[in-house]
Amino acid sequence: REMPWRKKWIDLEAWEGDEEDGRKELATRAYEVWVSEIMLQQTRVSTVISYFNNWISKWPTVQDLAKANHDEVLSAWKGLGYYSRATRLHQGAQDVVKKRDKICPVPGTAQELKEVPGIGPYTAGAISSIAFGEAEPLLDGNVARVLSRQLGLYADVKEKKPVDFLWKVAGRLVQQVSGYPEIRRSAVPGQWNQALMELGSTICTPRPKCDECPIRNTCRAFAEGQMLVEKKRPS
Ligand code: ADE
Repeated sequence: REMPWRKKWIDLEAWEGDEEDGRKELATRAYEVWVSEIMLQQTRVSTVISYFNNWISKWPTVQDLAKANHDEVLSAWKGLGYYSRATRLHQGAQDVVKKRDKICPVPGTAQELKEVPGIGPYTAGAISSIAFGEAEPLLDGNVARVLSRQLGLYADVKEKKPVDFLWKVAGRLVQQVSGYPEIRRSAVPGQWNQALMELGSTICTPRPKCDECPIRNTCRAFAEGQMLVEKKRPS
């Protein structure tokens, strides 16, 4: 599916132009993933697209956002709701621009990303995998549901125990598909994570469309005819 923040992954090691230009471009990609993922946390893709495009035309780089007037930031968020997210995104931008590398202020690893205000494990996984190609997992409600069904967990994916377990599963999967440990960075982790999210938001929905599902053959819940049962193992 087309989304304005989905762009070709940049491999800095294969970048042919000026090195600084490459890092600048990477910083912009990472910033775009950051903005889009914060917006997508409470709003669907179709609504986010116009807010995202407007935001990026106002503040094309993380440095521009850091310098922005906070009232203007809140005004560009108007209609998306949960304004604390806009505030923390603005704070996060100011924080990294002040403390980090001048060319690429957005950290590349999930661990460093989690130290930035407003960036939790999900957003850290998204930015590090999609923009930087790191084999880092991410788990949102959609991904948790997909994995839980595939494994036939019949778990409540809002509870801590299954969620902790599914983070581990997601981590091993993204490493496996990335050819870990031979390939350290590639486009694969970001594509994999986004494919899981998109499957969960379009097909493996709370009421799933299993007849359209590309991975129903490996799905334990489908095999057991229990796609709608999230909590109870069939007897
Ligand atoms: N939901 C949240 N972020 C997404 C992304 N990058 N791709 C698809 N669905 C998403």
